[in-house]
Amino acid sequence: MASNFLHDRVAEGAILPVKPPSGRFFLNISQPLPAVLISNGVGITPMMAMAKACLLHGASRPLWFVHGVRNGEYHAFRTDVLALAQQNPQMRVYYRYSQPRSQDEGQYHSQGYADIDFIKTVIAPEIESVQGVPDAEYFLCGSPTFTESLLAGLREWGVSESRIFFESFGPAAKPAPTAPVSSDGTAPTAEVVFSQSGKTLSWHPEAGTILELAEANGLNPPYSCRQGICLTCMCAIAAGEVAYEEPPIGEPDPGSVLICVGKPKTPRVVLNL
Ligand code: FES
Repeated sequence: MASNFLHDRVAEGAILPVKPPSGRFFLNISQPLPAVLISNGVGITPMMAMAKACLLHGASRPLWFVHGVRNGEYHAFRTDVLALAQQNPQMRVYYRYSQPRSQDEGQYHSQGYADIDFIKTVIAPEIESVQGVPDAEYFLCGSPTFTESLLAGLREWGVSESRIFFESFGPAAKPAPTAPVSSDGTAPTAEVVFSQSGKTLSWHPEAGTILELAEANGLNPPYSCRQGICLTCMCAIAAGEVAYEEPPIGEPDPGSVLICVGKPKTPRVVLNL
């Protein structure tokens, strides 16, 4: 929606109110641990910003830049990233083409995917040989399936959650049912009234968020990020209160809540939904 709006409706000279950058997907350039930036498709864009930040601020943080794409026809910023690496001796670039064309010869480093096997067999040993230990932080950005598969691979491999940062293009996968928000402040069970739909549902901790409760019972509220960022799921609350495991990044309007990350805090919650 945002991209289409910008392309179709915003012209040079337009003035837009914007928020400053926020979220958890950012590179701490002062951290000495190597950073492995792994992307596919247009997921390369935040990685470029991270690599540029290191160069701009003269950071000595070692970077491994791994990018997967079908072939040269779909490869954005190929030369831009190489130019950054030429100026930053701490940055190494690996381009992986899954279906290279004959004219791509010499434009990529190896054939295959930017997947967990490549990280384990090529990148990790290289980090170990350069740094002495295989420890690193991993930054993932790309299509939801790409990100989810790498995320699962890294976790299975034993990489700690604190070492993994990720962002997907497109709606995030539905998270697994979550534990109760907390023993304090969250109702053990609750009644959630969806006033516009005429449904009253029983909530318990295993039901997850209010959005998940609604979906499991045949309702289809709008959503996009499912992470409390985009405000797509925002709806007015007529009675009761909602609790969040962590304060959401997106700020709902007064009198409204984000049901994608919210759970009932009071025994009865009435939503205008
Ligand atoms: S779906 Fe994005 S904030 Fe809830």
